[in-house]
Amino acid sequence: MTPDPESTPAISSSGSYWVLQTREMGYAFGLNPAGALVNAYWGQRLPRLEDYPELLSLPARSSFDHPLNQIPEEYPTVGGPKYTEPALQAIFGGGERDLALVFQRTEVSGEELIVTLRDQHYGLWVELHYRVWAEANLIERWVEVTNSDQEAVRLERIFSATLQLPPGRQYALTYLEGRWFDEFEQQRKPLEVGNLVLESKRITTGHDGSPWFALDAAESGDAASETEGGVWFGTLEWSGNWKLVAERTRFDRSAVHLGLNDWDFAWSLAVGETFRTPAVFFGFTNGGFGQMSRDLHDFVRGHLLPHGRQARPVLYNSWEATYFEVNEGGQMRLAELAAEMGVELFVVDDGWFAGRDRDNAGLGDWWPDPVKFPGGLGKLIAYVQTLGMEFGIWIEPEMVNPDSQLYRAHPDWTLHFPHRERSLMRDQLILNLARVDVQNHLIEVLDRLLSANPIRFIKWDMNRNVSEAGWPDYPGEPREVWVRYVQGLYRVWGELRARHPQVVWQTCSGGGGRVDFGTLRLADQAWVSDNTYAPARLQIQEGYSLVFPAVTMESWVTDRGAKQVPLEFRFHASMTGVLGVGGDLNEWSEEQRREATQHIRTYKSIRDIVHWGDLYRLRSPTQYPYSAVQYVSKDKSEGVVLAFRTHQGRTRDAPLLFLQGLEPEALYTVEGVTDGAGQQVVRSGAAWRVVGLRLELSDFRSALRRITRVNTLRGDGVGA
Ligand code: DGJ
Repeated sequence: MTPDPESTPAISSSGSYWVLQTREMGYAFGLNPAGALVNAYWGQRLPRLEDYPELLSLPARSSFDHPLNQIPEEYPTVGGPKYTEPALQAIFGGGERDLALVFQRTEVSGEELIVTLRDQHYGLWVELHYRVWAEANLIERWVEVTNSDQEAVRLERIFSATLQLPPGRQYALTYLEGRWFDEFEQQRKPLEVGNLVLESKRITTGHDGSPWFALDAAESGDAASETEGGVWFGTLEWSGNWKLVAERTRFDRSAVHLGLNDWDFAWSLAVGETFRTPAVFFGFTNGGFGQMSRDLHDFVRGHLLPHGRQARPVLYNSWEATYFEVNEGGQMRLAELAAEMGVELFVVDDGWFAGRDRDNAGLGDWWPDPVKFPGGLGKLIAYVQTLGMEFGIWIEPEMVNPDSQLYRAHPDWTLHFPHRERSLMRDQLILNLARVDVQNHLIEVLDRLLSANPIRFIKWDMNRNVSEAGWPDYPGEPREVWVRYVQGLYRVWGELRARHPQVVWQTCSGGGGRVDFGTLRLADQAWVSDNTYAPARLQIQEGYSLVFPAVTMESWVTDRGAKQVPLEFRFHASMTGVLGVGGDLNEWSEEQRREATQHIRTYKSIRDIVHWGDLYRLRSPTQYPYSAVQYVSKDKSEGVVLAFRTHQGRTRDAPLLFLQGLEPEALYTVEGVTDGAGQQVVRSGAAWRVVGLRLELSDFRSALRRITRVNTLRGDGVGA
């Protein structure tokens, strides 16, 4: 029986047992006879509340294995006879380093359940918060710790959640890793006994990986595929140092612990203060990795992005055309060519501000370079608007070059240690955004820029990683800087967003170094990678699509690989997200610009489906020289397939593409698919799924085909 989401509440309780349910997921925990808060279940939603399993009560196996070390604790702490991973670790004023949390009460408020625990002796209160997003198929979890004792408590680790997996199975962890120019690479590893640790220590989310995970059964027969099978997944809403520990114990217990990185972290919690962790969003689906992505995409689009369903303009970005050689005349010429092709937003990248002739000067001085823009930005912006486009600009607010007015005035404003040399990377240092004076300065300077100019789009970049993360003047616990920095970043960005709500932001950190649920509350778009070579991009974009929706994925058509990869292929690769153009238009022939105009027109006619529909990854570019993605509108009336062949495989036949997500009983045509008599082939959605579609392509060729619903089988009795 399929459970009816309407008939059972999102949060149910029976005595000291709680069940949280979403569209497809059930999650249960409670107090065991010994009074410990223990997880009972996470997985497929079960038909009846009575179906959820009772809490495990385990006997001691020996004097070496206390039952407390074996139970799947809901929020494990350091304390007592336990040797597995904790989520919370603290030191009390007197030096006591053992936490013994005792259940106090629960409270339900709307879709939120709050479980309150307190230390057996000290006035340390721990609240576990669960917010159920039933329709979105996700649960949001975070923790709030309050000190009502006599002395400060030092938090040494405070994860947002421990997520216990059902026993009886071995799991494989799918995750994303990468490096600059090669982000979002998919990995899958079986969980062996021990810990698999993923993390960032870079003060940003990092190119190394994403604070996201997916688990499925490790045995090949039970493993999830793109289209079916159980997937447990989650992600952290945080844009700084994070840590994920995937743990498998010797007692058939698997868990994922996720939250702020405890490396070089500490937080001194003063009396009366509360510390709130970032949230983890987690879910379960039986619909394989594809459904997992669609659940995450819907949530990002429906609940995170600041501008919701607003259309995303086709943009031109000048970076790869001009690099630092920006000037008024040059940008105007590019703008003219871009506007002729149908571009809607013209973005000036790095190189426009005071003293910025190379990457070794200017960062921090956020006003137009007087030589490049003698009268300010006004003339260029007005021209761009006359051409019918909006105007956008690049900034890198967290950075400063030693060769800048800002650094000369405030050398103490960067992260540094007094007796250590400040490591330069790209000739720049990081401003200490944990400092309120630095935050206020950035708000003021950027507010001035946005108030003085009709800027509609900002690319917020960050081009180096942290080093010497010191804050010499800070009187408190120095290791708080990691968290306070990100809180400062959120404050600056949030304040600017509030003052200039019409501005759309892009998150960028030398490509995809800072894309996460935290930045996507501030920025509608992300720059996924500096690698704009389309075949590589297909792989990077596929990894990105596991977590993030196409409407956030800015992708430019550039000149990289132009000799080998046709313009059409490059456009098609970028049309799978938010289309941008980044090539040097001065070098494009008239014929190329005419072709580009046609592609932009086509894109505009499908972007609604790509941005707001459902994504189906039909064939992965990481495994085949031939890959394809499909998007289907939410009402299933239309769709689009984009297929790509990179190089000659061993077989000359194109693989069959089994279309998905169509209404099984409705009839559809696929653009360009005709029978022997030249008639459009009409098939039911069910038939396209099993009969498939073959699009022959030669090397480095691509295809874009529209799918159209023509009528329904039911009612008119017409077959295909
Ligand atoms: C890194 C970004 O990823 C590029 O797109 C470009 O904006 C440069 N920074 C500019 O310095």
